[in-house]
Amino acid sequence: MNTADSERLSHQLESVGYTPTEDVEIADLILLNTCAVRENAETKVYGRIGELMRLKRKNKNLILAVTGCMAQKNQAEMFKRAPHIDIVLGTHNIQHINEMIEEVQRGHTHQINVDMDNSVLPELEAKPNGTFYAWVPIMNGCNKFCTYCIVPHVRGREISRPVEAIVKEVTELGAKGFKEITLLGQNVNSYGLDFKDGTDFGTLVDALDGIPGIERIRYMTSHPQDMTKSMIDALGRSSNIVTHLHLPIQSGSNRILKKMNRHYTVEHYKELLSYCREKIKDVVVTTDIIAGFPGETEEDFLATLQLLKDVRYDMAYTFIYSKRSGTPAATMDDQVPEEVKRVRLQTLMDVQNEISYELNKPMEGQVFDIIVEGPSPRDEDMWFGRTSGNKMVLFPKDDSLSIGETVPAYIDKAQTWVCYGTIQKG
Ligand code: 5AD
Ligand code: SF4
Repeated sequence: MNTADSERLSHQLESVGYTPTEDVEIADLILLNTCAVRENAETKVYGRIGELMRLKRKNKNLILAVTGCMAQKNQAEMFKRAPHIDIVLGTHNIQHINEMIEEVQRGHTHQINVDMDNSVLPELEAKPNGTFYAWVPIMNGCNKFCTYCIVPHVRGREISRPVEAIVKEVTELGAKGFKEITLLGQNVNSYGLDFKDGTDFGTLVDALDGIPGIERIRYMTSHPQDMTKSMIDALGRSSNIVTHLHLPIQSGSNRILKKMNRHYTVEHYKELLSYCREKIKDVVVTTDIIAGFPGETEEDFLATLQLLKDVRYDMAYTFIYSKRSGTPAATMDDQVPEEVKRVRLQTLMDVQNEISYELNKPMEGQVFDIIVEGPSPRDEDMWFGRTSGNKMVLFPKDDSLSIGETVPAYIDKAQTWVCYGTIQKG
């Protein structure tokens, strides 16, 4: 979501003459787009803001702006903690960035706009970072209020973009040569419910099927409470929806799910997943899990561990519970000690890594279509692409391939996180 917002901010900045730079030393404007979902994200940003003081001293004209969920959460307090910040821009106000920069240039620092207007969602143009993939927000906000989560407090209530606006954007992207898009929403399964006219996520999936040029449609994030069988049917019949499904469970204990305000049971989740596995061919399932939510006993934790073994996810993103002030879980009195949380996280990761490896292993000897993304972040001589199921395939750099090309990859070796392959071309 932040990347999508950043691309929309970039478009506005470039419209008034800014150009991007990789070198902060020469920047006239530094805009930090922040996350507040866990405390360590915030700590990192404050550290970064502290470091930027040096550049502010060096260049009197440098403008430092902070946007995103942390800006929305901490508001004017950010100026108190770091007076060299010029602009604090809330999550509902990114369309105002240029006006605020102008004000600072007129000599009025400490510009702030954190108003939350839940009635409109501005249609903003983006400047995609990629050449063949693009992020397409389909809604903003969340109405769920999971007791650990800051998102509803900093992103506001759900507002969906009209189906027509999304279809128009995706059609334009397809015409420009983009072939992979990711539909974004904190809870894509509640998409369109705010229109109260029968529109839902299934309607959108159907409307996006067959748009010329669009080979793959990814979507994040799904919610077990709102995902219906008819939506799964739509995912199953679509010709361009990917096989990857990210369906966070958060905990394998019904008692904890209740305390989390998640409104589903493990039994319901498993039933939903069986239906997905039946309807979405070759579905690749990933999840999010929180270790050490307040009140989580050893028994609750073992239930989560058992769930991993029962469901056998391709991958699980595991997080240590992080206290977010203003959320109900932060003041629950049975907080789990840090050390226990850490041990539980490690145990979850160990079990999951083994399962991920076991599930990847049979990919060896098979051929998967991948879209070439470019050099691997770790090794310039290796390139990579992803399968429809979002598995990363690394292969030796080959000058006859171009970024964005769809090619078959023969899997030579599968590991826990990545596969190594040979491109079969020509
Ligand atoms: N502590 C730890 N993890 C959290 N998440 C959200 N809030 C918290 C928190 N306070 C995790 C959830 C969510 C993912 C994006 O981040 O698992 O699905
Ligand atoms: Fe946070 Fe997701 Fe729950 Fe919304 S549904 S409150 S974004 S965890």
